[in-house]
Amino acid sequence: MRLVFTLLFLVALPFTFADGPWHQSRPELAPETSENLPTDKLKVHSRPAPNCVKVKCLALTFDDGPNPESTNKILAALEKEDARASFFFIGRYVKGQERSVRRAYVDGDDIGNHSWDHTDFTKLKPSQIKNELLKTGLAIENTGVPEPHLFRPPYGAFRLSMLRYIHVPVILWNVDPKDWAQKDPKAIAKIVEEQARPGAIIVMHDRRLTAEALTKLIHNLKKKYRLVTVTELLNLSPKSKGAYLGL
Ligand code: NI
Repeated sequence: MRLVFTLLFLVALPFTFADGPWHQSRPELAPETSENLPTDKLKVHSRPAPNCVKVKCLALTFDDGPNPESTNKILAALEKEDARASFFFIGRYVKGQERSVRRAYVDGDDIGNHSWDHTDFTKLKPSQIKNELLKTGLAIENTGVPEPHLFRPPYGAFRLSMLRYIHVPVILWNVDPKDWAQKDPKAIAKIVEEQARPGAIIVMHDRRLTAEALTKLIHNLKKKYRLVTVTELLNLSPKSKGAYLGL
């Protein structure tokens, strides 16, 4: 029922959300070395998932990483408070950042697909979309974590007809603090705290200033909410499909 409602709601929405363009001008930084990665199977730090229909939950999501300037800072802030979040990675940024991807997975965070090069999918042919998803899935899998079971379209540009060839849940959002437009971490924290509500999927970006806002922000949000992954919030299973904005 929730999915049907979500789909109906989506029909009434403009299909391009504001998604930060900042990553297009991201400075090229030296990648971490990916040599000597351990080859053992990664073990996720598991914990019982809350029932988000009964408990106040919130899903923080971070797009456009992995980013050598911020992903590890975001992970450290989440780990400090034993909070979970969801990352939507861009395939072409994964090389050199394998350790961050693995760290997020081991922490129990969701690892999602955010395309290979952040192209507007409404301008692509189905075969190109499939290729973007496949290449990114492989890049992530090559870090040693399972292929992502979630997808977030770049810019939120999405048509329901795409569900014919996107066979994993499409995760949009219902709270957009526009962190990419902010130059002050305190302002980011303030806006997110004001806009937070139970069942929200909050879109943020894997960038330095957002990372700097997180330690205090997560500490404050945890007083009111369980910080969960999108999978936990929506109670997704491996068979789930469709498009979601939040709970
Ligand atoms: Ni993006």
